[in-house]
Amino acid sequence: MAREKVVKRGPQPDAGEQKPLPAADEPAIKSLRPRRLAEYIGQTQVVGNLAVALQAAKQRGEPLDHVLLHGPPGLGKTTLSHIIATEMETTMVATSGPMLEKPKDLMGILTNLEAGQVLFIDEIHRIPHTVEEFLYSAMEDFQVDFVLDRGAFAKTIKIPLKRFTLVGATTRAGLLTAPLRDRFGILLHLDFYTAEELTEVVARSADILDIPIEPDGAFEIARRSRGTPRIANRLLRRVRDYAQVHGRGVITRDIARLALEREGIDERGLDALDRRYLATIDELYAGGPVGIEALAATLNEETDTLEDIIEPYLLKEGYVIRTASGRKTPQARADQPRLFSVG
Ligand code: ADE
Repeated sequence: MAREKVVKRGPQPDAGEQKPLPAADEPAIKSLRPRRLAEYIGQTQVVGNLAVALQAAKQRGEPLDHVLLHGPPGLGKTTLSHIIATEMETTMVATSGPMLEKPKDLMGILTNLEAGQVLFIDEIHRIPHTVEEFLYSAMEDFQVDFVLDRGAFAKTIKIPLKRFTLVGATTRAGLLTAPLRDRFGILLHLDFYTAEELTEVVARSADILDIPIEPDGAFEIARRSRGTPRIANRLLRRVRDYAQVHGRGVITRDIARLALEREGIDERGLDALDRRYLATIDELYAGGPVGIEALAATLNEETDTLEDIIEPYLLKEGYVIRTASGRKTPQARADQPRLFSVG
C-alpha cells in the first residue's frame, strides 16, 4: 500500500535553507484517519467526484487539478488531503494560511516541491494578500515572479516550479477572493454527517482502538456528536474511560448516555457553549434579532468562533435563524415553554 508522509512547514529564518520538519500530528488521532478513499465513510458525493478525478488524472499520468475543500471544522478536510496524496502515490507538504506571513515563506515551500507533490494549505482564507498574489501564477503557470533589487535596478526573474497539486481547505469559502477561488479546478463541499454515517465512523474507530461497543452505544455517541467525526471520536474516548471505570468496559447505550451527560452533552447533542449561545439570544435578547458582535461580546467569545464553530450546526438543525437584522431563535409557540435558559 502506498504510504504518504507529511512535512509541516511555516515561516523559516531563511526560506532557501529550510529543512523538512517531522509531522506534528498526534499519533493516536492520526491512526483513526482513513488512509484510502475506499475506507472513507460518508460525504458520498464528494468521494464520488474525487474518485473520478483521481482515476482520470492517474490514467493521464498527470497531477490532480488543484482542489478546494470547504465546510465546517472537523468533517475531514485534512484527512481527504492525506488521502489525495496517498491515492496519487505521492507525499504531502502541509502548511496553513496564518503560517504564511511573508512571500518568502510561501516561496521557500513552492520552490522545494517535487513533481506531483500535494501542497495542503489549511485555513487558506487567512493567507495575507501580499502572499496570496504569488499563488496565482504558481497555481496557473507553475512559476513565480521574483523581484530582485529595487528602484532603477529592479529586475523580475521567473522561477519555474514543478507541477504540483494545491489542496486548500477553508471553513469560509465566501471569504476567498475570486482570483484565488477561480484557480481551483475541483471544488468540494463537505457537509455534516448523518447519525447513521457517524455510527459507522464510531464503530470503525472502536474497532481500531479495541474498544468493546454495542451498536446502540455507537449510535448514542453518533447522534450526539453534532454531525462531526472529530467530535464523535473524542466522545468515544471519554465514554470508553467511563465504561472502564463505572461499567464492565463495554460501551452500551446506558453507559454512553451517562458518560455524555457528565461531559455536558445534552439529549440533542448540544454542548455547554451551544446552550449558552441559544439561551443568550432567547433570554437576554428576547429571542432576537441580535447582531453577531453583540452576541460575541456578551458570550465573551470571538465572532469567528461563533461563525465557524458554533453556528453552522445550530443553523443546519434550525436552532437559530440568520436574518439581515441579526440572529433569532425560532418563534416559541404560546403554549410551549422557551427551550433554553441562561445559567
Ligand atoms: N474517521 C474520521 N472521519 C472518518 C470518515 N469520514 N470515514 C472513516 N473514518 C473516519
